[in-house]
Amino acid sequence: MCGIIGYLGTRTAAPLLLEGLAKLEYRGYDSAGVAILERHDEAPTTHRVRAAGKIAHLVTALEASPTNGTHGIGHTRWATHGGPTQDNAHPHFSEGVSVVHNGIIENHAALRARLLEDGFEFKSETDTEVIAHLIAQALKSHSRLHEAVQASVAQMQGAWALCVISERHPEEIVVARHASPLLIGLHDAETSGHATPEVFVASDVSAILNHTRSVLDLNDGDVATLTIKGAKITDVDLRQVTRRTRRITWNAVAAEKQGYKHFMLKEIHEQPKAIRDTILGHVDGDNIFSKRNFPLPSPHGRVILLACGTSWHAALCGKILIEQLARVPAEVDLASEFRYRQPVIREGDIAIAVSQSGETADTLAAIREAGRLGAKTLSICNVVDSSIARMTGDVIYTHAGPEISVASTKAFTTQLVALSLFSVWLAGRTSSDNGEDEGARDERERALLTTIRNLPSTIESVLEHRERIQRIARRYAQYRDMLYLGRGLGYPVALEGALKLKEISYMHAEGYASGEMKHGPIALIDETMPVVVIATEGPGYEKVISNLEEVRSRGGRVIAVATMGDTQIEQLAEDVIFVPPAHPMLQPIIASVPLQLLAYYIADQRGTDVDQPRNLAKSVTVE
Ligand code: M6R
Repeated sequence: MCGIIGYLGTRTAAPLLLEGLAKLEYRGYDSAGVAILERHDEAPTTHRVRAAGKIAHLVTALEASPTNGTHGIGHTRWATHGGPTQDNAHPHFSEGVSVVHNGIIENHAALRARLLEDGFEFKSETDTEVIAHLIAQALKSHSRLHEAVQASVAQMQGAWALCVISERHPEEIVVARHASPLLIGLHDAETSGHATPEVFVASDVSAILNHTRSVLDLNDGDVATLTIKGAKITDVDLRQVTRRTRRITWNAVAAEKQGYKHFMLKEIHEQPKAIRDTILGHVDGDNIFSKRNFPLPSPHGRVILLACGTSWHAALCGKILIEQLARVPAEVDLASEFRYRQPVIREGDIAIAVSQSGETADTLAAIREAGRLGAKTLSICNVVDSSIARMTGDVIYTHAGPEISVASTKAFTTQLVALSLFSVWLAGRTSSDNGEDEGARDERERALLTTIRNLPSTIESVLEHRERIQRIARRYAQYRDMLYLGRGLGYPVALEGALKLKEISYMHAEGYASGEMKHGPIALIDETMPVVVIATEGPGYEKVISNLEEVRSRGGRVIAVATMGDTQIEQLAEDVIFVPPAHPMLQPIIASVPLQLLAYYIADQRGTDVDQPRNLAKSVTVE
């Protein structure tokens, strides 16, 4: 989940690399570095500058040690092997070869032992340094950098996106991809305003969008040589191949903060639009997914949802929606657990990966395994043409637009919209098998569609309560722990509310199914443990109210998320955040929004780095 950028052209590379790294910082931000080729008397030398900490530190280091080279690579790191120190920062270097890497080299210990025997000296604790030495070693028997990289990746196991420059090959950058994202940006004078040819490489398109909208996606196993004339690519079988060029249509301004203090706050406020776009993408009149032909589970088949983190919470809601609406058995797995528990896949099962980035390594591996075991695969992704989107048989895009904040918000609610639409679609194809009355089904579908269409304005009205939520947040910002309770669809909402709070405020927070309280967590309740209760109208409401009473009678302070017009709740809770009434099956989409705001304002009050919380990265591309 590190960020990679590379540039080769006629412009000074350093500012372009720094600009790209700033855009990629959400992928990791514990250290950063660049390696830029400089020509002195025509003999190229490497100008390598690295700094521990955020990119601002690298900027300062480069100011003290400037370079006007026009050919370089850069990296922002999220530590896996070796702490976040300057020595462990990329690029790593060996005999004129500089390498930046995203991923994990699983057999690095064996490779390191062999390279040490061969006389190479290691300067870092990283797995990446073996790659620099492998390539330097391969260059002793291969004159072309491309071949040396091919020979090196053939010895590696694990995942990599690599970007390599070499003093002996000053006209090229060689890149390689296997199970980690990487794309090439081709010369685009219209976007950059520069007529002279140039080429970029980056982990994701946001890093280069100001300079090119013409990108080439690499496949797993590809090695590519980039020169100012373009890219020459070989595939896993060493055959020369061409890859599709695509044009990026989304707007770079969408990735800027537009006046909000943080990307997270901006993205929370973008939810009405993101949801509207998701609906527009998939609903035409009264028809949902009208031109799509997703795989259907066989009469004894199941739907298996695979995801991590926030996307897993969306998948938990998806299970309930699919079972209740379509009466198809559904299971949810944490993607990181799925492939290690020898899962049973039967003929007619369909597996759905849910992922904002479409690059999460655990989810990618899980859906690959489900497919290998015979499930038909589908994904719900936000990032177009991401690895998961490309790997699965079909994809439902969420159209949330770029999500920059590490804490996921609009991706979550649009995933819930996509899962709701999919459940209604599936119900339309399975209800006759279940003996459901068609009239009743159609009526339910109409009611759900009406609520779905109203979601953007419903969420606008929730956002209008931001100041009240901010006031409530101030009252709770100094607590140490917080409990979140919900039942049915309110349970994943509680889990998600707790995850949001802990990841950005560093407060300890737990989500619990409210009926589970009495089986243990109730022991925690006292006046120092505020409890957020999802108490919106719907099935289970009365039982949630009983659980709320249990909290109160033990001295707990309650913040309730309740439906407007609920008069009893104000007698029971210290603070109430009201949300508009809605179909109970869609209430999670609405009830999640005030919890996002509550977490945001508490974190802001505590002065944390909201968009880039410590230890986290936006896209977790390592297992
Ligand atoms: O890109 P994905 O949806 O696959 O990411 C999965 C999780 O890493 C992600 O949801 C993570 O939990 C977020 N930081 C939550 O805000």
